[in-house]
Amino acid sequence: MAAAPVSTAVSSASSSTDSASQLELGWRTDLRESYVQGKVLGTGSFGTVHLGIDSVSGQEVAIKTLPKERPKLSRARVLEKLQRELTLLDRLSGCPRVVQLLECFEDEDNVYIVTEACEGGDLQKFSDTYGPLSERCLALVAQEVLHIVRSCHRLGILHGDVKPANFCLKDEHRHPYASSPAALQRTPWLKAIDFGCSQLHFRHTRLSKRSGTPVYMAPEIFKRDYSFEVDVWSTGVLLYQLFCRQFPFWQGDSYNKALSLEDVAKAISEAPIRMDFGPWLTMSPEGLDFVRGCLTRDPASRMTLDEALEHPWLQKFASGLEGGAPGPLVEAEVAGSGSSVANNIVRRAAVQQAQQQQTRRDAAVAA
Ligand SMILES: Nc1ncnc2c1ncn2[C@@H]1O[C@H](COP(=O)(O)OP(=O)(O)O)[C@@H](O)[C@H]1O
Ligand SMILES: [Mg+2]
Repeated sequence: MAAAPVSTAVSSASSSTDSASQLELGWRTDLRESYVQGKVLGTGSFGTVHLGIDSVSGQEVAIKTLPKERPKLSRARVLEKLQRELTLLDRLSGCPRVVQLLECFEDEDNVYIVTEACEGGDLQKFSDTYGPLSERCLALVAQEVLHIVRSCHRLGILHGDVKPANFCLKDEHRHPYASSPAALQRTPWLKAIDFGCSQLHFRHTRLSKRSGTPVYMAPEIFKRDYSFEVDVWSTGVLLYQLFCRQFPFWQGDSYNKALSLEDVAKAISEAPIRMDFGPWLTMSPEGLDFVRGCLTRDPASRMTLDEALEHPWLQKFASGLEGGAPGPLVEAEVAGSGSSVANNIVRRAAVQQAQQQQTRRDAAVAA
């Protein structure tokens, strides 16, 4: 089914009254006749997503419901945001690593964005199910996320909200633990699903809007002066979190969602990034370098997207050329549990290597 036109009526939305009886966007209103709505697939900061079935073809879809009213925002502004999300999703419609937009609907209270469904759930749920990811699995995730980010950037779209909950496994049984690298490479196994914080961006200009999920936001976003490099930073936070199940700037589970934006900004800008515990102790030097490259505070010194995609870590763990099954699930956990002398030697060497690399990078940043 073709996507509905998306270039309609922002202006009429802005000029419309706040009367809830008008359908401002000019989108179709017959959702209930077209789709049967089923179980909840997930809930985000703005919307709830249900599984749906096309009542004619029987095709399974995802239906994202987004309210037209939000606290602290005028209705016209919300409509503008909804329109933008849809426009960007439509612009990405040829990209196989992005969920395909099928149709959009509205009623007085909500808009409904119908996309292809991903039956494997999002990366946050994947990590809740399997625990900290093995290094190999992490590298495969990194590669997919960066390919998605590159597709966005090539179309002049800054993703703006790279985090595990915004990427879904297309199939329940096709992921790095269940499939061979060759099977994973046949068609994309990971898809971007959420462009609610994305922005159209022209390479030679700067952005200033504080937008995204604070804990994943790059330091320069808080300074309101940023560009495409922020997506590489957020990919680094995503990888850090999936590898050790903590946020980089808070130890253990000390990150608290109730923290003020200022406190989050301060930690992101100043707190040390620890990679000297648990799974980090057995990560390869290439992996440590990769994550540190993403989490470099100065955007000018940060690893670029192209450098990341050509990084030896991805060549080593995600190229699929080495064959074999992805690393065992427990790979990351072994790091924290080993007590043998050999393990300790490996761990000490890894810490030393990590510290040396950090010193070199700090020096580069300070220079
Ligand atoms: N196409 C989809 N297929 C399967 N699950 C989805 C799909 N889109 C979203 N979800 C689930 O719903 C959650 C919220 O969707 P999302 O688009 O991220 O909403 P929000 O903009 O509110 O963050 C996601 O984290 C994911 O778990
Ligand atoms: Mg989301």
